[in-house]
Amino acid sequence: MSHLIAPSMLSADFTNLQKDIELINNSEADWFHLDIMDGVFVPNISFGIPILEAIKPLAKKPFDVHLMIVQPDRYIETFHKAGADWLNVHYEACTHLHRTVEAIHNQGMKAGVTLNPHTPVSLLEDIIQDLDLVLLMSVNPGFGGQKFIKNTIHKIDQLKELILRKNSKALIEIDGGVDNITAPMLVSAGADVLVSGSYVFKSTDPKTTIKDLKNL
Ligand code: DX5
Ligand code: ZN
Repeated sequence: MSHLIAPSMLSADFTNLQKDIELINNSEADWFHLDIMDGVFVPNISFGIPILEAIKPLAKKPFDVHLMIVQPDRYIETFHKAGADWLNVHYEACTHLHRTVEAIHNQGMKAGVTLNPHTPVSLLEDIIQDLDLVLLMSVNPGFGGQKFIKNTIHKIDQLKELILRKNSKALIEIDGGVDNITAPMLVSAGADVLVSGSYVFKSTDPKTTIKDLKNL
């Protein structure tokens, strides 16, 4: 499988979301990446459920929803109804992660677990077989446009080893500081999905930027 590209709508033009949704629809991107922040789990507040509901009918590609919120269990059904196809919860926000993953699956969604840069891959040892995706943060979550943390490459190696050893089908997704320099390193290390926000939307020709990220 060639790697997937998931542009992050956090860097889209909020005064004209329809334009940027159509741009993604007509590009080589595979998914929409949607960053939900509550101002508690991360020091920023982005957008929430009404925005997802509003844009879902316009979008022609799956919604990859990244929940940067405390107690995400409270909102699993709500995000399913709002259009999430893939639902990512943070390891650091879930006390009963196995139950949370089951609840995501019970709603018919794919389940992802996200690790902050300081959270070791080894903590997934007893849950990896139940996951559809692991999202490795390559910046501290909360903001677009931050500098890529190089240790992520080492974490991809460890995660790949864990996935193979446990016979898991989980995809490896990377989020933060993905650009023309980091993307080739990430794909050769074994990344399956690349999230990219500012590099795509701040470029002069986002469609070509997506195409270049897809065809490394
Ligand atoms: C950060 C978000 C990212 C963000 C990435 O907390 O999870 O998805 O949009 O932005 P860039 O690609 O600009 O680092
Ligand atoms: Zn994200």
